[in-house]
Amino acid sequence: MDEWVREAEVWVGQAERWIRQQPPEQVYVAVAVVAVTVLLLVAVSCLKSSKANTIVLSGLSGSGKTILFYQLRDGSTHQGTVTSMEQNNDTFVLHSELERRGKVKPVHVVDVPGHARLKPKLDEVLPQAAGIVYVVDAQDFLSTMHAAAEYLYDILTKATVVKKRVPVLIFCNKTDKVTAHSKEFIKKQLEKELNKLRESRNAISSADITDEVKLGNPGEAFNFSQCQNKVTVTEGAGLTGNVSAVEEFIREYVKA
Ligand SMILES: *[C@@H]1O[C@H](CO)[C@@H](O)[C@H](O)[C@H]1NC(C)=O
Ligand SMILES: *[C@@H]1O[C@H](CO)[C@@H](O)[C@H](O)[C@H]1NC(C)=O
Ligand SMILES: *[C@@H]1O[C@H](CO)[C@@H](O)[C@H](O)[C@H]1NC(C)=O
Ligand SMILES: *[C@@H]1O[C@H](CO)[C@@H](O)[C@H](O)[C@H]1NC(C)=O
Repeated sequence: MDEWVREAEVWVGQAERWIRQQPPEQVYVAVAVVAVTVLLLVAVSCLKSSKANTIVLSGLSGSGKTILFYQLRDGSTHQGTVTSMEQNNDTFVLHSELERRGKVKPVHVVDVPGHARLKPKLDEVLPQAAGIVYVVDAQDFLSTMHAAAEYLYDILTKATVVKKRVPVLIFCNKTDKVTAHSKEFIKKQLEKELNKLRESRNAISSADITDEVKLGNPGEAFNFSQCQNKVTVTEGAGLTGNVSAVEEFIREYVKA
């Protein structure tokens, strides 16, 4: 042990002598190089860990979006005592993963209110999105279909979404298995509505809209597979806590 200490002292002494022999500029340069390298490494690792881990929950108000937020975080609906006017914004470990052993990476989930006048909020959060969940009410679908398609159109034509190929999950929120529409039906109807919207919106001059990308292939009936980003349609039930489709989506894009 003593021998090691003595040897180490000898090494340190030699290093000191060597440094003193160097012209001071060279020592400064060496120190600067080391410092810059360390800073770069720190910056890179910061960037890596802040790499988009945000999941954006969107949809019309009343679609079941806020319940979905609580199911993901708490595994409970809080019996509908919560309002969706406020923006839910939290970073947490998915409730379904609390029991899992080992380290699980938390997810940042932002629930953007569905009210039209709060739309600008969406522009704020979309650039950070690793994935977007769009909630559709499968029960009341026909009466809300037009508004739901308009909102979805806004998301699917956002330059930040398309250029970064942010995946979109359309989640059909069902309660009653008998009367709710199937996800296949909802998918077809949304595609039709988006196709109509595309025609009416393309007619409006889009010269001054720079953050928008055209939807689908021109001259072909629109369907989701024409989107540059991946769009999938799944179903589940916010009310009974069957949100596994959303959990799987989150873990596909925010690695645990
Ligand atoms: C979707 O979820 C909300 C909240 O649970 C609920 O009020 C609404 O009725 C749901 N819609 C369907 C079809 O389940
Ligand atoms: C979410 O909350 C954090 C911390 O409170 C804040 O810095 C961030 O801007 C919020 N994000 C949104 C989209 O509101
Ligand atoms: C979607 O559109 C593309 C291009 O128009 C077409 O090739 C494809 O068959 C369509 N898919 C479905 C499922 O309709
Ligand atoms: C949850 O929803 C998925 C997708 O609809 C379905 O396949 C699954 O059977 C449901 N699970 C339960 C427990 O209801």
